[in-house]
Amino acid sequence: MVKTIIINGSPRAPKSNSKQYAEIFRKYYTGETISFMINNRNHSEICDHIEGCSDIVFVFPLYADGIPSTLLNFLKTLETYQINQKPRVHILINCGFIEPEQNNVALDMMRLFCRQNRYEFSSTLAIGAGEAFLTTPLSFLVKGKIKKFAKLVASKKTEHLSVTLPLSKKSFVKASTKYWIAYGERFGCSKEQMASMKIE
Ligand SMILES: Cc1cc2nc3c(=O)[nH]c(=O)nc-3n(C[C@H](O)[C@H](O)[C@H](O)COP(=O)(O)O)c2cc1C
Repeated sequence: MVKTIIINGSPRAPKSNSKQYAEIFRKYYTGETISFMINNRNHSEICDHIEGCSDIVFVFPLYADGIPSTLLNFLKTLETYQINQKPRVHILINCGFIEPEQNNVALDMMRLFCRQNRYEFSSTLAIGAGEAFLTTPLSFLVKGKIKKFAKLVASKKTEHLSVTLPLSKKSFVKASTKYWIAYGERFGCSKEQMASMKIE
């Protein structure tokens, strides 16, 4: 039973940054893996596959300082499932802001789930600037950290890792504001419209 299940908990899983991070993890991980993206219909299928695995790697984004509802709903199903040999749980989380510690509350939510449901909570990797990182010339930094995280999972070691773009907060805000204004313009949306509560 040495198989790792990678579970993508992003609400936009097929087009997600989490998907890219999961693929990098898979490239560096030496063990056997199976992968799933959570949707409304596959909770039971994923739970059935968890039974035969030694490790779970949850890969997901930070949403509103917590775990996305897609993942939360899945965890509600998982806690009702009878799993005899519970796998070790590892987390690869990414957030949009530059500070990887923004992810800490979501990690605590996962830690609590594990404690309440008797899963061993093991290694974690918290990525800051997760939306932008892979599009920059510094993407080797996040890839290197994922490689280290993959080694931790394979060697059954428990450690917390984090990584972010080596920019000052001021430079990050300047660059990201420019990026999002240009992004909005492509869809005919002004800076003022994006800053308003009217999202439709
Ligand atoms: C609805 C929503 C809420 C978000 N909330 C946060 C947040 O609280 N803090 C943060 O740093 N990033 C936040 N983000 C940014 C995402 O974490 C970031 O874009 C991430 O790369 C998305 O990953 P994904 O493509 O795997 O879903 C939010 C994004 C969305 C769409």
